[in-house]
Amino acid sequence: MSETVRSVMQKEQRGRLGRIRWARVLMAENGARWTAYAALLAGLKNGARRIEGRMARLEARNGLSGRTGRGANYQYWQRWDWSHQGEEWTPSDDWKRSLIDDVMLWYLKPNTTIVEIGPGAGRWTEALQGIASRLILVDLSDRCIELCRRRFAQAGNIEYHVNDGRSLSAIESDSVDGVWSFDVFVHIAPPDVESYIAEISRVLRPGGRAVINHAKGGRDDGASDIGQRSNMSAADFARMIDSHGLTLVEQFDAWGPGGRHKVTTKWDTVSVIEK
Ligand SMILES: C[S@@+](CC[C@H](N)C(=O)[O-])C[C@H]1O[C@@H](n2cnc3c(N)ncnc32)[C@H](O)[C@@H]1O
Repeated sequence: MSETVRSVMQKEQRGRLGRIRWARVLMAENGARWTAYAALLAGLKNGARRIEGRMARLEARNGLSGRTGRGANYQYWQRWDWSHQGEEWTPSDDWKRSLIDDVMLWYLKPNTTIVEIGPGAGRWTEALQGIASRLILVDLSDRCIELCRRRFAQAGNIEYHVNDGRSLSAIESDSVDGVWSFDVFVHIAPPDVESYIAEISRVLRPGGRAVINHAKGGRDDGASDIGQRSNMSAADFARMIDSHGLTLVEQFDAWGPGGRHKVTTKWDTVSVIEK
């Protein structure tokens, strides 16, 4: 929500009352202490929004990655408690089943070469391993790659690569049929997202598809507070796709029967891309 829209809404809430009169009304009904806290809170929120705006401008002007740089991601995910294997981000079994059946299996062809970017502890790898003839895992965290290597030690169709957080240099051009990445690009800084899109364009065979869950909220209220969301919009992502010669097939926030399952935050979306 923009600063202007917010201040119009606040004024509407107060109606035609001036600030002092509004404070008096609140004071009469809630007492001085409550009203002082309310005033303090409004001031702090306003200050926080201004600081947020300044940080966003600084990032844009100087190309800073904020909390979504490769160094920050590496340190954060290396130290994550992976004992729940990423299932702490799964809202329900039904949600996960539907994402696999209605999205993964719908867009990615079975018995082909698939790349997963950012597998973590293998929450989606388990399903991908079952459908791919060759599955290539790429993560900037060596700990995540090691966890997957151990978890899928029995699988003979998986290759493991630790990367630099922005390229797929271990993968040959025009050699891949599908790319899957969920809950990863939402945390990646826009310049690195663009670098990956260029790489996806390079490694996909003509007709190959990528399913990428990414940020869409930019600096919307609260977006940067939760889990280090990337400062990009759905339109930014679409522009990057276009400029690297790929086609955006679909962009959606919900899937499954009647669209009953949704991305886990309102600042995220899913794009399906084709070469
Ligand atoms: C929130 S976890 C999600 C893991 C898994 N995809 C899941 O859904 O359970 C984010 C994962 O992305 C990886 N990651 C973060 N930034 C990355 C980057 N720039 N390149 C490759 N992997 C990255 C992290 O190491 C971690 O494995």
